[in-house]
Amino acid sequence: MSNPAFRWGVATSAFQIEGAARDDGRGPSIWDTFAQVPGAVANGDTGDVAADHYHRWAEDVRLLVDLGVDAYRFSVSWSRVQPEGRGRIERRGLDFYRRLVESLLDNGIEPFVTLYHWDLPQALEDEGGWRTRSTAGWFADYAALVHDELGDVVRKWTTLNEPYCSAVVGYGEGRHAPGAREGHGSLAAAHHLLLGHGLAVQAMRAGGEPGEFGIVLNQSPAVPVTDSPADVAAATRQDVLLRRQFTDPLFGGAYPDEMTSMFGDISDFSFRHDGDLEVIGQPLDYVGLNYYYRLHVADAPHREPDPAKRTAHDIGVDTTRLPDVPRTGMGWPVEPEGMTVALADLKARHPGLPPVYVTENGCVYPDNADFEDAERIAFLGDHIAAAQAAGVDLRGYFCWSLLDNFEWAHGYKHRFGLVHVDYQTLQRTPRASYHWYRAHIAKARQGS
Ligand code: FCB
Repeated sequence: MSNPAFRWGVATSAFQIEGAARDDGRGPSIWDTFAQVPGAVANGDTGDVAADHYHRWAEDVRLLVDLGVDAYRFSVSWSRVQPEGRGRIERRGLDFYRRLVESLLDNGIEPFVTLYHWDLPQALEDEGGWRTRSTAGWFADYAALVHDELGDVVRKWTTLNEPYCSAVVGYGEGRHAPGAREGHGSLAAAHHLLLGHGLAVQAMRAGGEPGEFGIVLNQSPAVPVTDSPADVAAATRQDVLLRRQFTDPLFGGAYPDEMTSMFGDISDFSFRHDGDLEVIGQPLDYVGLNYYYRLHVADAPHREPDPAKRTAHDIGVDTTRLPDVPRTGMGWPVEPEGMTVALADLKARHPGLPPVYVTENGCVYPDNADFEDAERIAFLGDHIAAAQAAGVDLRGYFCWSLLDNFEWAHGYKHRFGLVHVDYQTLQRTPRASYHWYRAHIAKARQGS
């Protein structure tokens, strides 16, 4: 990569690494609650300690410095700075992020702040969570608060991480917090997340400090398993649910027409109000795309024939027919060409797309005794090359993740870190991929 402005980075999120769940006045989030539900998270794991980053952040900044990254993407825990999600401010929470940002800047590392990485304050969930319109307004207030506090030192602001997962996996499938299985509620959640994004961007821009504002979307392109019209239509439905429900209103000013036929029997869309699309679709300074795998889609009957009971992810598709390609330790198909397609597709659909960052990409493999993770090194190298081949205005690449961390419903079982974390001692040990990434960055800089 011969562009000196290109940002090489790593990403984390608050709930997955911070721990210190009850320290310094932090309130519970939906993930604290969900982790208490028997069977919700593998092995009964919780975020109480995680990688203990809240206490070990200075050591983690040193790891970033030694890695040689230009940028660090992390998220702010809403319930650490507003324990009830609105109103009362917890100064100790804000001070934590101020210390972290200043330390990054002292070391020449640019902070990329994500405001919402899935950890809604439980108090707001108790009032309906993302199903209700008011949550979008509270989110904008929270964004303005954090921006007021850090807008003098942070330039890169991301509103939401992967609203698809918050809405559909959280309120549709129920595999993520808050563990709901709904049709209309999940679609309403998606809309209110987008509305909250738009309101937050407006509020932060009104704050006056210079800044760049964007959103992070997960992009798993859907490939029909055959070229039969039924499978092709199924892949279209999958893309509408996962990608276009978000990208069309953000970059095209309208929801996909297909949503009416797909969901007309489970939702009346009454949550969409006049003027919302203008708020949602305002211009952004960048878009962050997360890519892990493609989806291979076959037509299949609805799992739940009764529309009254149907959830929003039940769109008559089967995504289990994987091609004969290598898999990661989580079973995800390894297809770097999907990275190219994910980026190029979005640019093709929306030629006015803002500059792009790959804000997450990474994998899991079983460790060997020396933490020589050759598969991860190959995975990252191939995916970086695939991103650079996409022909989009690519401004940076962030590896997921700096550290092993709480992998949501999988708990601590799956390890995405360039750095291994021993969850008994909390000792950090860089894997071979950490050293490889440092060398890759140094070489890329030399070429620039
Ligand atoms: C993404 C999430 C991130 C992490 C990776 C593996 O969907 O944004 O927090 O869990 O998957």
